[in-house]
Amino acid sequence: MSNHDKSRGVRDMFGAIAGRYDFLNHFLSANIDRRWRKICVREVGGRIPVPVPRILDIGCGTGDLSLAFSDLGPVIGCDFCHPMLCVGASKVRHSRLSRPVELLEADALLLPFADASFDVVVSAFVLRNLADIDRGLQEMRRILRPGGVMSVLDFGMPRMPVLAPIYRFYFLRVLPKLGKIISGVEGPYGYLPASVQSFPSAETLKEKAELAGFQNVKFKLLTGGVAVLLLGNAGCPDPNRT
Ligand SMILES: C[S@@+](CC[C@H](N)C(=O)[O-])C[C@H]1O[C@@H](n2cnc3c(N)ncnc32)[C@H](O)[C@@H]1O
Repeated sequence: MSNHDKSRGVRDMFGAIAGRYDFLNHFLSANIDRRWRKICVREVGGRIPVPVPRILDIGCGTGDLSLAFSDLGPVIGCDFCHPMLCVGASKVRHSRLSRPVELLEADALLLPFADASFDVVVSAFVLRNLADIDRGLQEMRRILRPGGVMSVLDFGMPRMPVLAPIYRFYFLRVLPKLGKIISGVEGPYGYLPASVQSFPSAETLKEKAELAGFQNVKFKLLTGGVAVLLLGNAGCPDPNRT
């Protein structure tokens, strides 16, 4: 499948479930996704390089991570799925925010921002969906100023002896069926486990982030490895880059 076809498939899939996305997210994860986003904000909050950072949330979807990060600084959330952004725009309008949140339609693989224009870049449950993960990480690095903070949250597969088989059963057998019943759409919740299984391990993600030019790269396994939080800093730009 070409990158273009994968991107179009992902955009159509999220467009089809945009109205039920939040409910499904919280229900199928028993609300643990909220906790993971809070941890992401806390980890970045402890590393921010300036008092009021400019923050970009890539693949912001319906805006939960953008809203959470507005406690730290002004946020631009971008996503290439218009229906997801419409849900997000309504949430932004109805939220009391410490700092502004703006939403923008844009592709994570070709961000419409100048080099070094943000202090923080964050992204939750997006990297796995990108047609080109390396390119996505390079774009994150490009738009961050040197020393800026990158934080990426995504699913992993737990490896702990007791948790792993229970989680696999839920994730591979139960979740796709529940997702289909609630969303009324066949594809997305069958795609979710498949995309997580083919997603690189936390160790490989760390290597990819380093190759993209990030320094001090670390990962944290959340909820026994059900989710992975990748953190790093933008290094100095490569002087040989054209
Ligand atoms: C699983 S949702 C996550 C949404 C949100 N970050 C959250 O935490 O709930 C993935 C989002 O990534 C977006 N996405 C996937 N590939 C993208 C790309 N190439 N450019 C922009 N957005 C993308 C999808 O449209 C979707 O809204």
